Amino acid sequence: MSTENRAACVIGWPVKHSRSPKMHGWWLKHYGIDGEYRMEEVSPEEFPAFIANLRSHGYVGANITIPHKEAAFHLTQPDERARAVGASNTLWYENGELRSTNTDVEGFLGALDAGAPGWEQNKDRPAVVFGAGGASRAVVWGLLERGVARIHVVNRTFERAAEMAKLYGDRIVPAPWEDRNKVLEGAGLAANATSLGLKGNPDLDVDLLRMAPGGVVADINYVPLETKLLAQARRLGLKTADGLDMLLYQGVRGFELWFGVRPEVTPELRELLAQDIPKS
Ligand code: ATR
Repeated sequence: MSTENRAACVIGWPVKHSRSPKMHGWWLKHYGIDGEYRMEEVSPEEFPAFIANLRSHGYVGANITIPHKEAAFHLTQPDERARAVGASNTLWYENGELRSTNTDVEGFLGALDAGAPGWEQNKDRPAVVFGAGGASRAVVWGLLERGVARIHVVNRTFERAAEMAKLYGDRIVPAPWEDRNKVLEGAGLAANATSLGLKGNPDLDVDLLRMAPGGVVADINYVPLETKLLAQARRLGLKTADGLDMLLYQGVRGFELWFGVRPEVTPELRELLAQDIPKS
């Protein structure tokens, strides 16, 4: 496949905060590809027309960020992962058709595989996912794909956890927020998919000591790089997967689809992105 003069972009409103240009720009340079990755600030009103004309804007595909992920899902041909999450963050053309996927699933699984190799040995123990929003759906679907037997979804608004059980079936056990420590008893994996622990927000205050020995702890938040939750996990000797790795691994599939090379997540690239993120 010729990769000459190909361009992709990230579409958001606003989009300036996106770290994707840094990541894809690094890969383009690293692999010597004559391509570009740009930012496009597009309002919700303009978004459908922009997507319908993505190719004439000069793009072979795009990343989609807030607030357009659900609109992108409805305006494209989604794959199984996008359908499971109900939102799309990566678009590409296939046989003339604009397709989409949700690479947050791959990002979460990639970070687990990198940070806690062998984590799937815990899949017969219950897992606990905190949160029941869009990010949580990507996390829960990833765990289901990899065969985790039972997932407690704990959410401040219980109804949203119950909705997830309706959506994904009886491997999901919804739990009220008050039970967040109780469900950790003997758990093999815990994942924070809430905005708790993000800089400026309160921390997710749970007792990881209740988890099974060899338990694994993941956090979707990457500001700061090491959330209080991950610091607690590390002190207890538990393996961890962090939000920055999730961001990096979610970028892999898009780059591969647009530029024809499956890029590697390296310590050098991670360091580049970590540079302007507070450590703790
Ligand atoms: P996203 O798409 O990133 O998941 P979201 O749908 O707004 O964003 O979800 C944010 C998650 O963080 C939700 O699970 C939310 O709980 P509610 O469903 O009850 O709103 C959770 N969250 C945010 N602030 C919280 C807090 N102070 N305590 C507990 N959970 C919180």
